[in-house]
Amino acid sequence: KRPAGAPDRSLARPVTKVGIVGAGLMASQMALLFVRRLEVPVVLTDLDQERVDKGVAYVHAEIDKLLARGRISNDRANRLGALVTGAVDKETFHDADFVIEAVFEEMSVKKSVFADVEKAVSPECVLATNTSSLSITEMAADLEHPERVVGFHFFNPVAVMPLLEIVRGEETSDATLATAFATGKALKKTTILVNDSPSFIVNRLLGRFMGEVGRIVDEGTPVPVVDGAFAGVAPMPPFVLLSLVGPAIALHNNETLHGAFPDRFYVSPALERVVAARKASYYGPDGSLDPEVEALLEQP
Ligand code: 3HC
Repeated sequence: KRPAGAPDRSLARPVTKVGIVGAGLMASQMALLFVRRLEVPVVLTDLDQERVDKGVAYVHAEIDKLLARGRISNDRANRLGALVTGAVDKETFHDADFVIEAVFEEMSVKKSVFADVEKAVSPECVLATNTSSLSITEMAADLEHPERVVGFHFFNPVAVMPLLEIVRGEETSDATLATAFATGKALKKTTILVNDSPSFIVNRLLGRFMGEVGRIVDEGTPVPVVDGAFAGVAPMPPFVLLSLVGPAIALHNNETLHGAFPDRFYVSPALERVVAARKASYYGPDGSLDPEVEALLEQP
């Protein structure tokens, strides 16, 4: 017997071409995974050609690394490389079956991206979002076909983290959900169905954890001491993880959760200062705490 809410597998539609909106690091990592596991054309789009070229170049460089490490043959590297292309115009999605967005984590931006993509794709094309915290139902609300929207949330680094959270919105159809699960399986991820609630499961739990970590630092404990406390406890110390994810994303997650559950989630003023200063990492290339971040943490 299928667990409640699980999709009927027979409804899954084939995915023969993938579109990715956004050509940043997360999107490029996703492009690599899709092309490697599905071996279908994957098109990256972004606002301008420079960003698109950068995303495509990242995927090609990662394919070269796999070749250099003997993970894939020369033939396969050439084949995969040729399958990854980029374009600014979303018209290129006209024959895609599965389009996923990984743009800025802001509801209005995501909604306008989906409205734009919907004009280019067929009515059956799945629109997936890699949002880490926002409502799938709300994101789909103004579309002509809200039933094709589904949450498809990867974790960083995309190539190695096994989990994929699949989020069903109020209007998501069984066929969309089944296609999302079949695609997740083809990507060799562990797929779980999660409720359309703020930050789903993993980021909600992480939000509690990172909030408490932030509070400890706000109370005066230095970041390296907090991180040092995790040696051998977790695969990555908290501020290394926060730097991998990106301080802005981590802050956004806790703001979203604080908005939904104000008594349970903490928004660290020090993290707000780090994000306002546009710092991408707490640590410098040599692995020591970035002095500018240190100064921001010490401000009242
Ligand atoms: N990209 C691609 N591959 C990577 C990578 C990266 N950034 N970092 C490491 N890898 C690969 C390595 O190539 C290696 O592959 P191999 O075994 O095939 O050679 C494998 O991962 C293990 O790497 P290492 O042995 O060098 O390093 P570690 O043992 O330290 O593991 C890690 C690296 C798997 C990233 C580990 O540190 C880890 O699990 N960290 C926690 C990551 C995590 O919790 N992510 C979730 C964040 S929350 C999130 O993303 C949600 C979002 O919405 C914000």
